Amino acid sequence: MSDVFKSGLLQGKVAFITGGSSGINLGIAEAFVKAGAKVVINGRNVEKLEGAVKGLQQHGTAMGLPADVRSYESVEKAMKAARDAYGELDILVCGAAGNFPAPALGMSSNGFKSVLEIDVLGTFNACRAAFEHMRKPGACVLNISAPQAYLPMAMQAHVCAAKAGVDMITRTLAIEWGGVGVRVNSITPGPIEDTEGMNRLAPSDDTRKKLTQALPLQRFGTKQDIAQLALFLASDAASYITGSIMVCDGGQSLLGSGLMLQAMGM
Ligand code: COA
Repeated sequence: MSDVFKSGLLQGKVAFITGGSSGINLGIAEAFVKAGAKVVINGRNVEKLEGAVKGLQQHGTAMGLPADVRSYESVEKAMKAARDAYGELDILVCGAAGNFPAPALGMSSNGFKSVLEIDVLGTFNACRAAFEHMRKPGACVLNISAPQAYLPMAMQAHVCAAKAGVDMITRTLAIEWGGVGVRVNSITPGPIEDTEGMNRLAPSDDTRKKLTQALPLQRFGTKQDIAQLALFLASDAASYITGSIMVCDGGQSLLGSGLMLQAMGM
């Protein structure tokens, strides 16, 4: 990772990251730890969580707290434990998300509901439960969104609905919490290499090659690309930014959802 993560930009800050055991969220956790923050990661799978924490502790201060973001009680308990361990929260990253590619007629009502509950209810629960433990003014929330929030995409009815909901949570909370000095923004990652989401959406080399060729920046993004944006948004350098949907997608959304669908052979 680049030197920007070693700048001490988040020295003394406390961050709580849902879905932090893997992928983009773990990349953000690593960047925050390197930048001096004390980081709590949360996930459902205890074994995965412990493995991720061990890796983070090589760079600084981190702990794991298991919780299912779909359960308010579970998240509330984890937030309290985080505060007891590290003090008031400065940064909340809502990254827990679900996805599987399926046409609407190939997805049960429960499958649709699962993704909505992890993404939308989970984001609401984490924000709602974190608020009383946040340092005010000065705290911020980063919600992890996706281009599906504004690009209709076949096989993604659940994710399109869910991420549009996540972005509206960002916008409404930015209005409601601005007065007490809490900023709320979304990050919209495009195709990021080596993530579970992308492995599900673009499983073959051929699909990845076609997508790469079509992208304006001609490459998949990296976890570091997203972590750099998260670091900026979480830092005082972004102190006048709230309610923004910050896109980091190599230009993917400029081309509409056709690009993704073509590459996926649909
Ligand atoms: N196609 C159709 N339906 C699927 C499916 C698929 N590939 N995968 C899961 N489902 C359905 C299940 O059949 C079930 O519905 P049913 O009860 O009517 O059969 C429903 O989703 C819930 O599945 P369940 O196994 O109980 O797990 P869950 O509620 O804990 O979560 C996922 C399911 C798929 C949402 C979750 O495991 C997940 O998202 N994993 C991937 C994480 C990921 O990719 N994160 C990155 C996001 S970008």
